[in-house]
Amino acid sequence: NEPLTLLGIESSCDDTAAAIVRGVPGKAEILSSVVFGQTDLHADFGGVVPEIAARAHAEKLDIVVEQCLSEANVSLSDLDGIAVTAGPGLIGGVLSGVMCAKGLAAATGLPLIGVNHLAGHALTPQLSHGLPFPYLMLLVSGGHCQFLLVEGPEDYRRLGGTIDDAPGEAFDKSARILGLSQPGGPAIERAARGGDASRFQLPRPLLDRDDCNMSFSGLKTAMLRARDGLVDAKGGLTRQDQNDLAAAFQSAIRDVLVEKTRRAVHMARSCRADLSRFAVAGGVASNMDIRAGLETISADLDLDFVAPPLALCTDNAAMIAYAGLLRHAGGEHDDMTLAARPRWPL
Ligand code: KG4
Ligand code: ZN
Repeated sequence: NEPLTLLGIESSCDDTAAAIVRGVPGKAEILSSVVFGQTDLHADFGGVVPEIAARAHAEKLDIVVEQCLSEANVSLSDLDGIAVTAGPGLIGGVLSGVMCAKGLAAATGLPLIGVNHLAGHALTPQLSHGLPFPYLMLLVSGGHCQFLLVEGPEDYRRLGGTIDDAPGEAFDKSARILGLSQPGGPAIERAARGGDASRFQLPRPLLDRDDCNMSFSGLKTAMLRARDGLVDAKGGLTRQDQNDLAAAFQSAIRDVLVEKTRRAVHMARSCRADLSRFAVAGGVASNMDIRAGLETISADLDLDFVAPPLALCTDNAAMIAYAGLLRHAGGEHDDMTLAARPRWPL
């Protein structure tokens, strides 16, 4: 098996990214990975503004592609293919990436490979740790929350997921409710370190149900009510109130994810009795309290637990290049009709 060298391009949300990955299925190396975040551009708006995101992607894509090639000391003629996120995501951003990739493919004659962003996240543990199939995957980010049984590069079984908000979204909204900075996940994690989680009783929704579906929008409402109660009683939140509420919120999310993991493992083992690996990815997976909870439940259930390094848990293009490498090795590619898709379930 000759090693393949793939360029990956990612622009589906608020990170403009390009990366070079080289290797074979199951064993690949990241030669470079450049991520240009847009957090500052959207800071005043309380969320990602699609129009601003699309313009920034269009401006930055050429630059991040050039930079990742030069950091990897690779030229276009060394590549075997160009992989690009073709969805799901904010359509203007996805379109910018797809147009950029098509231009490069047309100019070089290299194969163009469209990648599902979620597949990129789901294949990350194999890129970072060489984790073999099958494995159970918990994908937890600002936009997604689902349990996937991953049995091959194109073989995903969705076992359950959120029925409303994603946990990252709940972290971001709750941080706003507490008057903490954005992105909310890291801000809440920091505040929670000085907090007492037992001071507030927040709900753990859907734990009475036997499936691995989750709901996080009620938690946000409960946070709002707890805050308003404190504001009414004493006119505002002290630092300690913020910390205690942050800790209570983080514990509630952790408990739901841990308990639903138990059920997802049960479901996965009814399909694959030999299941012995569990991996997590997505921005929320960088939360140390949540990681610790998932590590403990994995040990309880006799599973090897894999959490990729932080920079690969959040949006990046190395995961897209690797997913493209697997498709390419399987003899699959796209042509100039490749479409940018706002919605694209795995
Ligand atoms: O995967 P990601 O970079 O982007 C997508 O949503 O695809 O995830 C971003 C989300 C944000 O909502 C952010 O608040 C959350 O991940 N996040 C965290 C932490 N770091 C980032 N949530 C909890 N704890 C963290 N340490
Ligand atoms: Zn993502």
